[in-house]
Amino acid sequence: PPERIVFSGIQPTGIPHLGNYLGALREWVRLQDQSDEGTRLFFSVVDLHALTLPQKPSSLKTWRKQAFAALLAVGLDPRRSTIFFQSAVPAHTELNWILSTVASTGYLSRMTQWKSKLELPADADLENPDARSRLRLGLFSYPVLQAADILVHRATHVPVGDDQRQHLEFTRYTANSFNHMYGYTFPSPEALISPAKRIMSLKDPALKMSKSHIDEKSRILLTDSYEAIHKKIKAARTDSNPIITYDPIKRPGVSNLLEILSHLDGRPCSEIVTDHGFISLLALKEHVADRVSHHLAPIRETLIGLLEGPSDHLDTIAREGAEAARLNAEITMANTRRNLGL
Ligand code: ADP
Ligand code: NA
Repeated sequence: PPERIVFSGIQPTGIPHLGNYLGALREWVRLQDQSDEGTRLFFSVVDLHALTLPQKPSSLKTWRKQAFAALLAVGLDPRRSTIFFQSAVPAHTELNWILSTVASTGYLSRMTQWKSKLELPADADLENPDARSRLRLGLFSYPVLQAADILVHRATHVPVGDDQRQHLEFTRYTANSFNHMYGYTFPSPEALISPAKRIMSLKDPALKMSKSHIDEKSRILLTDSYEAIHKKIKAARTDSNPIITYDPIKRPGVSNLLEILSHLDGRPCSEIVTDHGFISLLALKEHVADRVSHHLAPIRETLIGLLEGPSDHLDTIAREGAEAARLNAEITMANTRRNLGL
């Protein structure tokens, strides 16, 4: 059996953005390209997770296709990575149920994602009246499904952004609880946290860049044109100090732009500041916009081609991916059912 199994997922909740790319997708491609035959890689469009908040069916349909095409456009290669829709592999939901019988509700209630998605204070608990009326079971237990996604493929390594660290800890805890009760079944997965920890919103650098922000000017989409990228970056919120310095605490807006540059160019922010000697904020913004649009141009072109081209190409890749993922998941499920006495 392979030594390393890599799993990660992206929600189909809008066109992936620069934060998804630098924090996740680019790392997935890097892992793929650096792996030998001893590693198997699984990348999923986790469409069942998107249902944890209400979705318009027509939007979900479009977003699923966009997310899947984006995985190919950034450079994931179906001959080397298994790329699939979560909903096409029922073992994810079967294991979700099984893990929900060992998962701790106390642990889940302390996690922050359901609170931030419902815009509740971070210290809200299940006694909070707003939580009691608005919190759906699926949003509350979302981390259990995420644990199932990872464990059903016996993943040993999970490349994710820093925002997912808490969920991976929960997965490890739940795997250990299960192994303790029923005998060794799941390897304990390790997080591979991307060096691009958090790319921040262009409109409010206190928030991470996210698909869920209504204002699309807050993020650079992988489908954005040169002009759109320049417009958004020029309008990015910074401060009014024209001298460029890297100071993420006091100057989060300017520092976010420098971080984007740093991740694209693979050089520390301080070195970029010294070498470029930007004469104004506008000069910095123009340079960042140039670098981002240059870097994203080939991805954008491939992505638009995939979205506008005949859909049987994507359908075939998705079908073959789902078959391979089902085969791998079934190995885990057979073992899991046996250990449970099912
Ligand atoms: P979103 O939060 O935009 O809906 P997802 O939840 O689908 O994105 O996350 C997909 C991947 O992208 C995850 O690994 C997550 O850690 C990463 N990611 C999301 N937003 C950012 C960001 N602003 N900066 C860095 N990584 C991010
Ligand atoms: Na996220």
